[in-house]
Amino acid sequence: IELKDRSFTCTAPVNIAVIKYWGKRNEELILPINSSLSVTLHQNELRAKTMITLSSSFDEDQMWLNDKEEDISNPRIQRCLREIRRLATKTCSIDPSYLEGHVQIRSENNFPTAAGLASSAAGYACLVYCLSQVYGLKDVDISVIARQGSGSACRSVYGGFVSWEKGEREDGEDSIAEQVCPDMHWPDLQVLILVVSEQKKTVSSTSGMRTSVETSSLINFRANNVVPARMDEMKQAIKEKDFSTFATLTMKDSNQFHAVCLDSYPPIMYMNDASKYIVQLVTAYNLLYSSPRLAYTFDAGPNAVLFTPGGNIGEILGLVQHYLPPNPGAENYIRGVSAGQAVPP
Ligand code: PMV
Repeated sequence: IELKDRSFTCTAPVNIAVIKYWGKRNEELILPINSSLSVTLHQNELRAKTMITLSSSFDEDQMWLNDKEEDISNPRIQRCLREIRRLATKTCSIDPSYLEGHVQIRSENNFPTAAGLASSAAGYACLVYCLSQVYGLKDVDISVIARQGSGSACRSVYGGFVSWEKGEREDGEDSIAEQVCPDMHWPDLQVLILVVSEQKKTVSSTSGMRTSVETSSLINFRANNVVPARMDEMKQAIKEKDFSTFATLTMKDSNQFHAVCLDSYPPIMYMNDASKYIVQLVTAYNLLYSSPRLAYTFDAGPNAVLFTPGGNIGEILGLVQHYLPPNPGAENYIRGVSAGQAVPP
């Protein structure tokens, strides 16, 4: 049968965790040892874009990332593809002859890949959403499938403030993302990304988490005794738009995540001297006020993400430009301002 190709293009934004996911209880299904919570940035800033064509004329599945052909046999990509095709076979919402066809996937990021800027989160959320469109899937919780590509990707499936509930089940069906509040809930919250380095990280989050789970004695204390209460407090702070509590919890959680990394053996150090300088700068700035007006957080890399109330953004841009030393690693420190209205750098 002569088939017309099914082609879709989708975008998905980066999310920045304010309560960090670190450690898996099941590596294959990507089930975390603790729940986490993030802020999804706006589409026009840091995002992944994916175009997928499904056609009976392709002999094999193929994938390109930023114009370079990637090995599609990567088990995580295969898992996502398998799961989508399984659901498509079950629901039969497209012409069954398409199920015999293959896909060509073209993805691009408009920001450095694998530099601790959550590129895999945006990438897998985008891939899985786009695949679900190509295969005609509706009413399917795609966060469960995106999670199996990259854990944090399940949170990029929703906009605004999103939690990833760790779940209790062994099959992972209850390890899902949920929107805590929509993006327009807190338009005054501004995000500033300081690109300290565009280098790829030296320790991937997968191998870092494994080392931490196997060797850190802090990690279980964090997962069992700290994160559960912190998740509740953070959700409350977001609902009440309580910046001071949001900022304090965000900074403490970033600190604890990096403390767990240092407590691992061999130690994992994602923050560099410039990152530490930013921590000191934010701390000194907040001491000028009775409650915090600026918060930092760092993922598995040296780049900083700052949060501040909108009215403050001019002062923060001035602070950053004045106090940060010239950065040889990246053209410019300030890369994106989002979650609310974009502010010109
Ligand atoms: O989803 P992964 O495997 O890229 O892990 C992400 C881990 C952190 O970015 C450090 C924290 C998080 O919750 O996003």
